[in-house]
Amino acid sequence: MIPATLDTKLPRLVTPLPGPAAKKWVQLDDQYVSPSYTRAYPLVVKTGRGAMIEDVDGNVFLDFAAGIAVVATGHCHPQVVAAIQQQAAELIHMSGTDFYYPSMPELAQKLAAIAPGKDPKKVYFGNSGTEAVEAALKLARYHTKRDKFIAFYGAFHGRTMGSLSLTASKAVQRKGFGTLLAGVHHIPYGYCYRCPYGLQPESCCTECATVLEREIFKKIVDPEEVAAIVVEPFQGEGGYLPGPPEFLLELQRICRKYGILLVADEVQSGMGRTGQCRNETLRC
Ligand SMILES: Cc1ncc(COP(=O)(O)O)c(C=O)c1O
Repeated sequence: MIPATLDTKLPRLVTPLPGPAAKKWVQLDDQYVSPSYTRAYPLVVKTGRGAMIEDVDGNVFLDFAAGIAVVATGHCHPQVVAAIQQQAAELIHMSGTDFYYPSMPELAQKLAAIAPGKDPKKVYFGNSGTEAVEAALKLARYHTKRDKFIAFYGAFHGRTMGSLSLTASKAVQRKGFGTLLAGVHHIPYGYCYRCPYGLQPESCCTECATVLEREIFKKIVDPEEVAAIVVEPFQGEGGYLPGPPEFLLELQRICRKYGILLVADEVQSGMGRTGQCRNETLRC
């Protein structure tokens, strides 16, 4: 049943923000929860329905971010809730590394059917975005027997050591963690509105990708040592930038030419994140 306060399409503030209950929870959190969780503001969420969320003081907000873009069906969609409840009652523990479960190949088959590209697909299930990226890095090294990576300024790929090495969004995210994965080279992302090379889209010849062949592969890293180019087709933290198709196609051409893998972190359209199918290593 929808809580009465959430049965609305309008936000509603009943206390100053943060409210008294929120302040109490933030204080307790400060005392017991690791400071590695970086919160931008003191929103303490109690419940959500559809596009609305309610905090612990009864303030109701419109959730423009849809979780962090992972609740595409809205908060607590009844069918999603029912599926979770049914699974929890049937079998609550699983370990795909040790045993088989019918639901794994069943879901993998569905994901393989909707993933882009004509080649046969295999699916790896991860617990988070960063884990998917770590898996892609290992897979790329294992498959190519090469160890270098190309990534982009503005990229956010996660906070564990490997994915953090690819992340180049905010220096503070890397600060204090010492030397990261060696052999990661960053270049500017394809962003025509504020072209990093000061060019116009009509006449630029996708400088943002060709710089690889013209400069990077000549002066910094031999392409035959590059395992993968890791790119967000739609940069998120970097400023919600849709990568221009020409830029992505040029990356694909370069990858094909040098036997480099192209790893697309979040391939679906729109803002970026879905809860599950977040990372795809494309064979070019
Ligand atoms: C493109 C991209 N990759 C990876 C991640 C890391 O995901 P997670 O926070 O689930 O580890 C994010 C998180 O926002 C992301 O936007």
